[in-house]
Amino acid sequence: MEQAVQIARIKKAYECIDNDQTTTTPGVKRVPVAAYTDLEWQNRELNTVFKHQPLFMGLSCVIAEPGDYVTLEHSIKPLLMVRGDDDIARAFINMCSHRGAPVAQGCGRAAGFTCPYHAWSYDRAGSLKSIPDQRNFPGIEPQEHGLIPLPLVERHGMIWVLPDPGGEIDLDTHLEGLQDEMQDYQLQNYVHYESRVLHRDINWKMPIDTFLESYHFATLHRDTVGPIFYSNLCLFEGHGLHHWMAAVRKSIETLRGKPEAEWDFVKHTAISYQLFPNTMFTMQADHVETWRVFPVKNRVDQCVIYFDCYVPEPVTTEKSKKYWDANIDLAIRTVDDEDIAIQTDMERNFLSGSMTEVLIGQNEPALAHFHQSLKLAMAEK
Ligand code: FES
Ligand SMILES: [Fe+2]
Repeated sequence: MEQAVQIARIKKAYECIDNDQTTTTPGVKRVPVAAYTDLEWQNRELNTVFKHQPLFMGLSCVIAEPGDYVTLEHSIKPLLMVRGDDDIARAFINMCSHRGAPVAQGCGRAAGFTCPYHAWSYDRAGSLKSIPDQRNFPGIEPQEHGLIPLPLVERHGMIWVLPDPGGEIDLDTHLEGLQDEMQDYQLQNYVHYESRVLHRDINWKMPIDTFLESYHFATLHRDTVGPIFYSNLCLFEGHGLHHWMAAVRKSIETLRGKPEAEWDFVKHTAISYQLFPNTMFTMQADHVETWRVFPVKNRVDQCVIYFDCYVPEPVTTEKSKKYWDANIDLAIRTVDDEDIAIQTDMERNFLSGSMTEVLIGQNEPALAHFHQSLKLAMAEK
């Protein structure tokens, strides 16, 4: 991030601290509770938002070497991502062209993929290489029956996939000015440290919502991250459907009086990018945490959350392992044990039919922006 940008953001943080303010949005906003309880509403999201938006699928290091692959069952379409022998990352629907079985499970490194049902086999580029007893499939040309590709773009050390085989990704247009900031982070140098998959009984938007305001830090997180950050203080900037929102660490006070050339914004904040629609991408002081949330088909009150932690260099010592484990433990204790725990109760309250809308205060601009983006994206066909 350019130094001038870091200085401007830190000055804004000081202005907020010194005047007991935060960035604001004009007027109280209202979101219908149906957004969290109505299956028809979720189906509209699936047919608009999730059909037309490229989804962030991880940093390049999740498939670092040729043959490295990952699968995701809950990613709108069953997904297989694999790096080819030509070093190109590709995405496919994880579905055999014979009768539809998944050809890969979990993640790992593979020379190719052999379907566990009748052993049709595919190479790392998704081409069908062999059909056992092929004489009984007259007229079936293997070159026409590869895995179905999905549009994938890998840039700035990040991988994006569009879950629509007929669509295409224009990433620069999609990122709406965030690309320079993403490029500056040099994400291609990060290594994957750990992932967790959480199945939770809340609507998919709730885990995103909870990242988008720091109004709750002093109460809900009083024993976890509350003491580290200013509560009810956030910086915010919209970028089309996306935005970033930064919570400010109390350690920012140590910069006062130091030369501005030494000011480091990332170190003294937690800057969370809402990569529309379903990713929270957080630059912590010295590592990256991402939370990708997917709806569960036909269950408006359930979601699947993929948490991934990336660190700047390979973890080779017990000391660094302990350090990163403690970071992950704090992230999970805060988000899962505190945010998601109370949101599970909220989802139950919503489903009781006792409330018709929820309120977003002027001090919650990022939350207002996310719901406005959803409204806009759902209106597009
Ligand atoms: S379903 Fe894959 S080989 Fe038959
Ligand atoms: Fe929280």
